[in-house]
Amino acid sequence: METKFNFKRFRRLRYNPIIRDMVRETELSKNDFIYPLFVLPGKKVKNPVKSMPGVFQYSIDTLVEECKEVRDLGIPAIILFGIPEHKDEQGSEAYDPNGIVQKAIRAIKQEVKDLLVITDVCLCEYTSHGHCGLIDGEEILNDETIALLAKEAVSHIEAGADMVAPSDMMDGRVFAIRKALDYKGYTKIPIMSYAAKYSSGYYGPFRDAAESSPAFGDRKSHQMDIGNINEALREVEADIEEGADIVMVKPAGPYLDVIKKVKEKFGMPTAAYQVSGEYSMIKAAAQNDWIDEERVMIESLTSIKRAGADIILTYFAKDAARWIDRNGR
Ligand code: PBG
Ligand code: ZN
Repeated sequence: METKFNFKRFRRLRYNPIIRDMVRETELSKNDFIYPLFVLPGKKVKNPVKSMPGVFQYSIDTLVEECKEVRDLGIPAIILFGIPEHKDEQGSEAYDPNGIVQKAIRAIKQEVKDLLVITDVCLCEYTSHGHCGLIDGEEILNDETIALLAKEAVSHIEAGADMVAPSDMMDGRVFAIRKALDYKGYTKIPIMSYAAKYSSGYYGPFRDAAESSPAFGDRKSHQMDIGNINEALREVEADIEEGADIVMVKPAGPYLDVIKKVKEKFGMPTAAYQVSGEYSMIKAAAQNDWIDEERVMIESLTSIKRAGADIILTYFAKDAARWIDRNGR
């Protein structure tokens, strides 16, 4: 009998769900996730962030409880953002040993074991003008700012944080932070740099959560232009040379091409931040019954991993961990 192999039957591996599971190329794991958390002064506070359903601002006591839940779900790490009591021109609370983030780190480290505490290092949550650095008139200063970022990073580590993540996009800040950490003897503390961070409209809801909208102007003089990818590779390369241990692309979903190129070109541990707008769009559409939230959540996260991300910062971390528990992966 004559057999003809004149076309391919891809569907052979798609009929049986067991086979489908066996040949799936990209799978999410809880170890992929970092969960962002917002902390502010006060007691027993758990403020819902209106533009981010399911996300809250916590006081330290409720934050600690939340951290235990995150740890118990099997999520390995959180990233902390602080909303300070006082904002000023210099963003002083960012590098105050008794600032909100520093206090939160100490409380978490005292009460929650087996949870990696990463901190976002930037000034925009702490400055009265909402900019990521010191300003002179309308200009955001570079070299004066990175000195303060280094101070902020050191104060987070002195409080007990395990890793710092500079998100400011000033030039030379990874170098400044590495140097300051090493000088203090913190040679074993890794830096995850927001290496290719775009000037994105997708950060809108975050600025409600972190209360960090710029009072004037925008972030276009330091964050990247949305059309650029070669520049992203140069940014990443510079951060690696300056001492970054993990490099991040942000946002994630709209920049899958950047994630892929960064991973291919440098082979570094690569993180991607599924930002507030990506999260809130899915939530809003799901609340209208326009999409199936769980399917789209998993699809969006799987796409980010398929593009090459090893680590995903996502507000869906808890929901995705529960999904993984239910679906056995
Ligand atoms: C602070 C910072 C921002 C985000 C993370 N760190 C906001 C910004 O640059 O305006 C955005 C995160 C998100 O949208 O979820 N520099
Ligand atoms: Zn900032």
